[in-house]
Amino acid sequence: MAKILVAYFSLTGNTQTIAQAIFDVLPNPKEIQPLDQVKYLEGYDLFFIGFPVHTHSVPYPVENFLKSFPPGKKIALFSTHGSHTGSRFSREALEHALSLLPQAHLLGSFTCRGKVSPEARELFQKLPEHRAWAVMAASAQHHPDKNDIADAQDFARWVLALYYS
Ligand SMILES: Cc1cc2nc3c(=O)[nH]c(=O)nc-3n(C[C@H](O)[C@H](O)[C@H](O)COP(=O)(O)O)c2cc1C
Repeated sequence: MAKILVAYFSLTGNTQTIAQAIFDVLPNPKEIQPLDQVKYLEGYDLFFIGFPVHTHSVPYPVENFLKSFPPGKKIALFSTHGSHTGSRFSREALEHALSLLPQAHLLGSFTCRGKVSPEARELFQKLPEHRAWAVMAASAQHHPDKNDIADAQDFARWVLALYYS
């Protein structure tokens, strides 16, 4: 059986919720760890790596982690974001994450919305370069919801099927 690692970065818990949902439907042997606790990558066959979109991109700790990822590994990416799913803001971050992994074997990617604290939204709405997503983010307040969780779990099952196909 494949040994699976679910690794995530999460400041306010949204990405962690999705990471845990994915982890719950994966078969053993498996582990789940916040990114800053990942000690080694050898010994795992499949990686699910999750992050929140920060300033239209990938948070620095995640960027560093992805840059140092060994080549040839099978991975699946997931992210959460305040903007609408499929918006330029959510797509660009994922595309950037992929560009950091030119030698990885990507099995799939998943994104969903995640609530932004009212304080953070208020702050970002004052910054011209962030106003668009911050205004959009008002309607993300109930995400990730049970449909997002179900979709993430479907995604995890699909990745697993691809891994074994
Ligand atoms: C510093 C910061 C920057 C953010 N930048 C963006 C952004 O550019 N686009 C976006 O859609 N959401 C942005 N968000 C919203 C987060 O991506 C969203 O709330 C995410 O679900 C948070 O995940 P977490 O709870 O796992 O930290 C930002 C949030 C923070 C705190």
